[in-house]
Amino acid sequence: MPISAPRSSVKDGPLLQVTGLTAGYGKIVVLRDIALTIAAGEAVALLGPNGAGKTTLLRAMSGLLPCTGRVLFAGKDISGASPRETVNAGLVHVVEGHRVFTQLSVFDNLLLAGYGLARDVRATQVEEALAFFPEIAAKRNDRAVTLSGGQQQMLAVAQGLVARPRLLMLDEPSAGLSPVLVDRVLAAVSRLREAGTAVLLVEQLIEKALGVADRVYALARGSIVLEAGTGEADLPNRLEHAYFGADASAPLAAH
Ligand SMILES: Nc1ncnc2c1ncn2[C@@H]1O[C@H](COP(=O)(O)OP(=O)(O)O)[C@@H](O)[C@H]1O
Ligand SMILES: [Mg+2]
Repeated sequence: MPISAPRSSVKDGPLLQVTGLTAGYGKIVVLRDIALTIAAGEAVALLGPNGAGKTTLLRAMSGLLPCTGRVLFAGKDISGASPRETVNAGLVHVVEGHRVFTQLSVFDNLLLAGYGLARDVRATQVEEALAFFPEIAAKRNDRAVTLSGGQQQMLAVAQGLVARPRLLMLDEPSAGLSPVLVDRVLAAVSRLREAGTAVLLVEQLIEKALGVADRVYALARGSIVLEAGTGEADLPNRLEHAYFGADASAPLAAH
């Protein structure tokens, strides 16, 4: 018996390692030769102008879209795996524009997210997800339509947690929210990270994303054009150059 449990089952390797990933729609190639890594428990922002391919990249990694190249996750090759297989491996994707079922209760929305899990396991994991968001746990029996916009987005994130991910990929979870609600939703990213869950966050609000992430990748026209730690000097400027350098017509999102 080991004296102490290893910190990670993947000895010294990253939790997620993508190499040479290429993907698109039919004959249209959107992503070319993408390389990206995420360490266990790390919060990483994926930024880039509209149409850069951020959503396409998340879809390719979670098995929603076919791709070529290699996706290693927790030491396992999940290239070409189905969405169900990637979820089972611990990689969960909350899709862009994810909406909750407004006529169902908060609790039933979470049960639905755990569809496919054994009944007792599902109940436990729904409670764990709820415990993470006291604000919506207090409304567990209320229909989701009674939640504020920010609370509905939190419920969407909570749905992603029901599967107990090791990496949660959030595609613009704060889209359409007022600045105050954006902060509340992004605070969940910080708490996830503190709890040891890795997060890949796609976000239009650059400053907000940099505020919660350890590291950032910028994607422009289907290629990674910048990778940096969020503490690095002059990052907003470098990001702006990365954006405009690749596509001069793409405006930066207003803060
Ligand atoms: N279902 C689709 N069929 C064809 N082209 C698509 C489809 N979805 C996205 N695209 C194209 O792929 C490119 C990247 O889109 P997307 O991944 O949604 O970018 P982002 O999330 O960075 O805004 C865009 O040029 C977009 O028009
Ligand atoms: Mg998108």
